[in-house]
Amino acid sequence: MTDNNPSAHRDADRVVIFDTTLRDGEQSPGASMTFEEKLEVADILDELGVDIIEAGFPIASQGDFESVSEIAKRVKNATIAGLARAAAKDIDRCAEALRHARNARIHTFISTSPVHMKYKLQMEPEKVLEMIASSVSRARNHVADVEWSAEDGTRTEHDFLCRCVETAINAGATTINIPDTVGYATPQEYEALFRMVRERVPNADKAVFSVHCHDDLGLAVSNSLAGVRGGARQIECTINGIGERAGNAALEEVVMAMRTRPDALPYRTNIDAKLLTRASKLVSAVTSFPVQYNKAIVGRNAFAHESGIHQDGMLKNAHTYEIMTPESVGVSKTSLVMGKHSGRHAFKEKLKELGYELGENALEDAFKRFKDLADRKKLVYDEDIVALVDDEIVTANDHIKVAALTVIAGTAGPQTAALTLDIDGEKKTHQATGNGPVDAIFNAIKALAPHEAALELFQVHAVTEGTDAQAEVSVRLSEDGKSVTGRGADPDTLVASARAYVAALNKLIVKRAKTKPEAMKAG
Ligand code: KIV
Ligand code: ZN
Repeated sequence: MTDNNPSAHRDADRVVIFDTTLRDGEQSPGASMTFEEKLEVADILDELGVDIIEAGFPIASQGDFESVSEIAKRVKNATIAGLARAAAKDIDRCAEALRHARNARIHTFISTSPVHMKYKLQMEPEKVLEMIASSVSRARNHVADVEWSAEDGTRTEHDFLCRCVETAINAGATTINIPDTVGYATPQEYEALFRMVRERVPNADKAVFSVHCHDDLGLAVSNSLAGVRGGARQIECTINGIGERAGNAALEEVVMAMRTRPDALPYRTNIDAKLLTRASKLVSAVTSFPVQYNKAIVGRNAFAHESGIHQDGMLKNAHTYEIMTPESVGVSKTSLVMGKHSGRHAFKEKLKELGYELGENALEDAFKRFKDLADRKKLVYDEDIVALVDDEIVTANDHIKVAALTVIAGTAGPQTAALTLDIDGEKKTHQATGNGPVDAIFNAIKALAPHEAALELFQVHAVTEGTDAQAEVSVRLSEDGKSVTGRGADPDTLVASARAYVAALNKLIVKRAKTKPEAMKAG
């Protein structure tokens, strides 16, 4: 079933999934995505059955505008939303970015809590009410589907919140979002808040209510589900729960909670759960944010049974310790895939099975890397292919690429790296020493692509088991308060380290062009 007009949906048990991985998720420190990566994520979200994709904040930068516009053009099923502050220029820019969407939504917001109005907005409550009316009606002049959010809604005085919601609905808002912006609410409070607003606001039945929860106290998923019990029928969430600070509610968790416990949570979504693992891996790869091993639904240990008692129970009957099957969320059993004699066709088929459809050039590059890997590694697993292809997707359009690397390491020292980078098509080589081989490599990168960014994180993990496993390295760089994370995979840990550093540098180049919009000010 496709639901192209989620706001008009009034099926009592149907919960609309509003994914904000590309907007709130991308606001996570270090999680920025390139244009091409955003398109990849939008494609999988659409395939997953997300009702609304919040594609970005068009006024924030030319890059955000272009990615929202391109996503609006290419996405076939989901409604595309763009974020806008309560200002005419934001709303008009957002509408322009959404011009080609089959179904477009403008999502406009303003703070309503005393602390935000006084210190951030420096506005009187009456002025905020005026801004709500003018911003929502301006948005309605562009599109029929308008969402209004009360930023810091859970710390807003109830009487004022009700007046704000009534004003927004009168001005034409079709969805009302009451975010727990600072992750402060408890489930009981949040459920009661929705009940209270829906009971007290006279025109409440004219809008769909929405939850948007941050995870500062680890309650984002519980609060989201509580809000639904209180009458909300839209959940705003992100893949892997990425988002500002501790993140947002994880899409995979809210969806699987409703699916696994329909007795307690009798609601439906349009999500194809079998794509959850794939979506999680892609978002992890493009943001370079690792998924914690014990993360619900998509963590690598989510379906692993370690203790003898559990394993014994599982062998007798999987229901003893498994409340959902790994297959239901798209986890395939680790399998030996191919060796060095596998051909291009088999490789393409394998990619399809893993959920990838690459263009001809990307396929060719990935195939070359696969052959190289198969020459060096005895057993090639699905996980190896995923790491390799994700790395290829992430680096395909980079300005700077690692072309060649030779390292001298060992006890004698000094450790030396001879590195060739391809910078916008031009090859440049430099030899550097360092306090260890990784330091030598990073010094060589700095010499070839000078920058002031500080190294905040260097982390290595093995993709599979065995000493010939591929290493996956994450590098986080920060510059002027902006941080980015890059990831690289290769059987050679040092090559993976060089790739990861260069990936982070490429993201920094993109991020430099992007400035965060100022908070709205009075006057
Ligand atoms: O957390 C928040 O309040 C937001 C709004 C912009 C919806 O992200
Ligand atoms: Zn948020």
